[in-house]
Amino acid sequence: MPNSTAEKVRPVQKDRPGSKVNSLQDEIDRLTERFGTERKALIPILQEIKKRHHIISGYAMQCVADRLSISPAEVYGVVSFYSFLHEEYQGRIVIRLCRTISCDMAGKDAIARQIQNDLGIKFGETTPDGKFSLEWANCVGMCDQGPAIIVNEQVFTHVTPEKVQEIITACVKMYERTPDLFKKGNHNEHKK
Ligand code: FES
Repeated sequence: MPNSTAEKVRPVQKDRPGSKVNSLQDEIDRLTERFGTERKALIPILQEIKKRHHIISGYAMQCVADRLSISPAEVYGVVSFYSFLHEEYQGRIVIRLCRTISCDMAGKDAIARQIQNDLGIKFGETTPDGKFSLEWANCVGMCDQGPAIIVNEQVFTHVTPEKVQEIITACVKMYERTPDLFKKGNHNEHKK
């Protein structure tokens, strides 16, 4: 983890015609056409970048800051504050398990063990093939139906260890059937 914003937000690179850098800049331009260039456009733009690329890189933050005429530190502050934005690369399928008290009492520990076993990763990690990331979530508003997990944007309630296996199997099948659904963007583009 970098120690400072300066390390995290890299300087803007020069446009290179036809390059992926250019395509990211073009993409952010299109997002500003859609959401505007006022400060209130910041979160919707970041959400779109995250949805498409599974990462919000320092370079993307710098571009967004330029387009909205705000400081890169402000953009970084928003990205690092909201766990759903996340500035690191995440897998195509992000599984979040609620760890707040109701889900905790409803058996979230057993669910956590099952997910870690099934995916072979711990919380905060991504599988080597880039398919899955595993994260904790705080209360997602389903306290009376816990344990609750969110898979990308879909909420599952009353989750049991058996249900975890079913959900992961269904995700893998969906991934194999419709890889394009999960292929938007190329995270390498952001590792500049
Ligand atoms: S405590 Fe888990 S959804 Fe509220």
